[in-house]
Amino acid sequence: MKRQIDTLDFASNFQVGHPGAFALAERIADLAPPGLDRVFLVNSGSEACDTAMKIALAYARAKGEGQRTVFVGRERGFHGVGFGGISVGGMVNNRRAFGTALLRSDHLRATWDPSTQAFARGQPVTGADMADELEHRIIALHDASNIAAVVVEPFAGSTGVLVPPVGYLERLREICDRHKLLLIFDEVITGFGRLGAMFAAQALNVVPDMIFFAKTVTNGAAPLGGVIVSRQIHDALMHGPAHLSELMHGYTYSGHPLACAAALAMIDVLETEDLPGRVRSLAPHFENAVHSLADAPGVVSIRNMGLAAGIELAPIPGAVGQRGAKAQAAAFDRGLLTRSPGDALVLAPPFICEPADIDRMAELMRLAITDAMGVSGGGDSLG
Ligand SMILES: Cc1ncc(COP(=O)(O)O)c(C=O)c1O
Repeated sequence: MKRQIDTLDFASNFQVGHPGAFALAERIADLAPPGLDRVFLVNSGSEACDTAMKIALAYARAKGEGQRTVFVGRERGFHGVGFGGISVGGMVNNRRAFGTALLRSDHLRATWDPSTQAFARGQPVTGADMADELEHRIIALHDASNIAAVVVEPFAGSTGVLVPPVGYLERLREICDRHKLLLIFDEVITGFGRLGAMFAAQALNVVPDMIFFAKTVTNGAAPLGGVIVSRQIHDALMHGPAHLSELMHGYTYSGHPLACAAALAMIDVLETEDLPGRVRSLAPHFENAVHSLADAPGVVSIRNMGLAAGIELAPIPGAVGQRGAKAQAAAFDRGLLTRSPGDALVLAPPFICEPADIDRMAELMRLAITDAMGVSGGGDSLG
């Protein structure tokens, strides 16, 4: 980024481009699953979601199927705060105040089933049939011909790491294929290594029609996101006229030179240090460490996948979220950064951490939970 700022600190995207954006798009296309090799750069996960949804609408229109305007998301999904994202998203607090201005959407139920999954390690073994609702309820209600796309996170991150059952995403892919629906993965959290492969699509062996990403691609050093689309979608849109943009969409700062430099450097590090491989080797240790908290006071569920976990506390009756917020603050005071959607505490350690760091995270988490539950004797020797 330092080198880049001396060379070119900004470049317009309107009818011109700059080498960094092309280099990055090509690099990302090489890392993506085969067939997904066209990249549209944006500045955030929210923009990436709205962009993917606009591409889905434009693609339907290009095929003469402009009636496809319904989007299918999932309850407890999070896809950012743009109108597209809150339409397919399933978090009530993000929708409540904006209700009437949403795109037409319907939602699968969340993949969360506390009766069978409360302490599942990794992907729960039962529950793939939850995907059937797409066919049996949603397509049965709206008809496949009206649906533009299905948008899901491989695992729901922002509502406390809800892990898809084994076979669930495969089943969604099969149903989308059967009814010719686009499947879009929101890989804003899972993209660039968190599940031990560059994309969840590769880690889980389920290839969607579009992937959108942000966050890890620059390690947060500069804002950048993007959408990777299949060649088929790209080609359907590229019919000129030559003097106009084929897709009338884009942002002033799309593919900003500094953000592209950050992303190219981040991808270098991910590859040269084989960080996805490191995630794969740390994941079993992480799983054991977080599940060792099962006997901490008030813990009602522990979920994990790759280097992400959600540890859920029993709520205070009538005050959902208060206990999570208290544990989050207690963890912060002890030097552990977590996040508390509701009463769940989310851990997403850096890929460069060592097993000893993970052990310390678990110890600090136990102390923070003990504090939040108001149990004496938590001690603060690690503080
Ligand atoms: C899965 C997912 N999608 C989209 C977003 C939105 O990204 P941004 O905050 O960069 O707009 C987030 C942010 O947390 C996310 O976790």
